[in-house]
Amino acid sequence: MSRVVVTGRIPKPGLDILRRDGHEVVAWGSEEQQPREQLLEQVRGADALLTLLTEQVDAELLDAAGEQLQVVANVAVGHNNIDVPVCRERGVVATNTPGVLTDATADIAMALILMASRRLGEGERVIRSGTPWQWGMFYLLGSGLQHKTLGVVGLGGIGAATARRARAFGMNVVYSSRSQAPRELELELGAHRVDMDTLLATSDVISLHCPYTSSTHHLLSSEEFAAMKRTAYVVNTARGPVVDEAALVEALKAGEIAGAGLDVFEDEPAVHPGLLECENAVLVPHLGSATIETRTAMATLAADNAVAVLAGREPPTPIR
Ligand code: DGY
Repeated sequence: MSRVVVTGRIPKPGLDILRRDGHEVVAWGSEEQQPREQLLEQVRGADALLTLLTEQVDAELLDAAGEQLQVVANVAVGHNNIDVPVCRERGVVATNTPGVLTDATADIAMALILMASRRLGEGERVIRSGTPWQWGMFYLLGSGLQHKTLGVVGLGGIGAATARRARAFGMNVVYSSRSQAPRELELELGAHRVDMDTLLATSDVISLHCPYTSSTHHLLSSEEFAAMKRTAYVVNTARGPVVDEAALVEALKAGEIAGAGLDVFEDEPAVHPGLLECENAVLVPHLGSATIETRTAMATLAADNAVAVLAGREPPTPIR
């Protein structure tokens, strides 16, 4: 019997998989993040960890767990919270949950594109605050999406799923990515690969779908905002620090871009106070994968990954 420590609250089907496999499961059952000191104590002697994206999996945590630790199964596709090289050095397998949250996250990206471009947040605030309003020809005018260009940064699964949705709204698609997408995907999306400068200069909506790494830190900052159309919208459902939030606030206030839709923040759960002053920013609290179905699929995939490694098998979705 192996000891599996689940560092946050996850849907029961994930726990069921671990228990059915005969493991001792120690789970932190609260939505509140477990205090670090307590977590370091709890992971002692663990053979497997199921971690949430709010947990820093670093040398300190691996040391606290001990040499018997075999696998860290992140219940997230993003894995910037895991020091993967340190896991590798110690022979600990790290896994994530790609695929299962693609549609849910693309839905939120599309929702943010619509909310920002059609000023839905502003409209909602008018109604809820009891501000007097009246239909008017020029009242809260937004921008239509038809025939506009979506610039996808990172054409992985979520970027492609967002592009697919945007196509249904009549948008054209360009993308920048480390590698060329397969020809069939480009044909399906009518998407052209362009360099980042071209994407910034020609896109009406820029949607971020790249992982957060040292090379994507502040990928969008003052210079990039200045290079965008003044009518452009920026949407981030990837990771907060891909965008320089202070520079974004400046750009939104100066009218250098038209608006932004953010699901993720540089210093989550803190939000740059300047963003709260920007009527042209739509702000939601990291809801990309927040559906019952998706969170259940994430938990069960993470559990499948852990169970596979503990049984000496290749896990379904290792981090490469
Ligand atoms: C992920 O899995 O990386 C998402 O950000 C969770 O919503």
